[in-house]
Amino acid sequence: MRLSILYTSLIIGAITVISSCSAGGENTGYEYAPNMYNSFAYEPMTQLEEEPNTINPHGMNMREPVKNTVARGQFDYGKYDMKVSNESYEASASLKNPLPASPKNIAQGNRLYNVNCTPCHGEKGAGDGTIVAAGKFPPPPDYNSDRIKTTPDGKMFYSIKYGKNLMGAYGTTLTPEEIWQVVHYIHSVNGTAPVALSSSK
Ligand code: HEC
Repeated sequence: MRLSILYTSLIIGAITVISSCSAGGENTGYEYAPNMYNSFAYEPMTQLEEEPNTINPHGMNMREPVKNTVARGQFDYGKYDMKVSNESYEASASLKNPLPASPKNIAQGNRLYNVNCTPCHGEKGAGDGTIVAAGKFPPPPDYNSDRIKTTPDGKMFYSIKYGKNLMGAYGTTLTPEEIWQVVHYIHSVNGTAPVALSSSK
């Protein structure tokens, strides 16, 4: 009886050692007990894509913040969709900038642009930011190019909010008002704005 337990353990041990030898490089080998890595309990800072939370709203492990603890307009849980759908990008073309192109809005857009966008787009939007100059990132489109000059405000708003290809989304960093201020600033850079930045100084 005892001997058979010993043999069984030896065989299991041998199989474990032999099959784990196949691991190496990118291949991590077979997971014998995935629950050791992926806990049964929902972990607030971990979201397994293949296992959406069935209890909380929107399949999120993290709970929504208590009402009014996040600035109004800052977060749009559930409706916030990181994926860019061409349909909504096209549809956004009809959006109009609700803010006036006042020197104040342009200056505020300039400030936010300097903080968030210059590393890639460069100070004057030429697509020559520091990480581009360092050869670490392909140059984004020049704000003075026809391509950007003819991009409707609503599409710019959409791309800044949800991101576009290599460019990340700013929907959680900037409020909608702030994004519209940045759009005014972009116009002031490529000369398509009714009010030039210099008039704010
Ligand atoms: C990590 C680098 C990076 C940062 C940071 C970045 N962008 Fe971009 N941006 C890009 C790239 C790359 C594209 C070209 C995307 C494409 O069309 O494939 C782009 C495109 C755009 C466009 C054109 C969108 C369109 O619909 O064609 C606008 C407008 C824009 N960026 C504004 C901004 C603003 C405003 C910020 C800061 C809030 C910002 N970007 C931050 C890399 C960046």
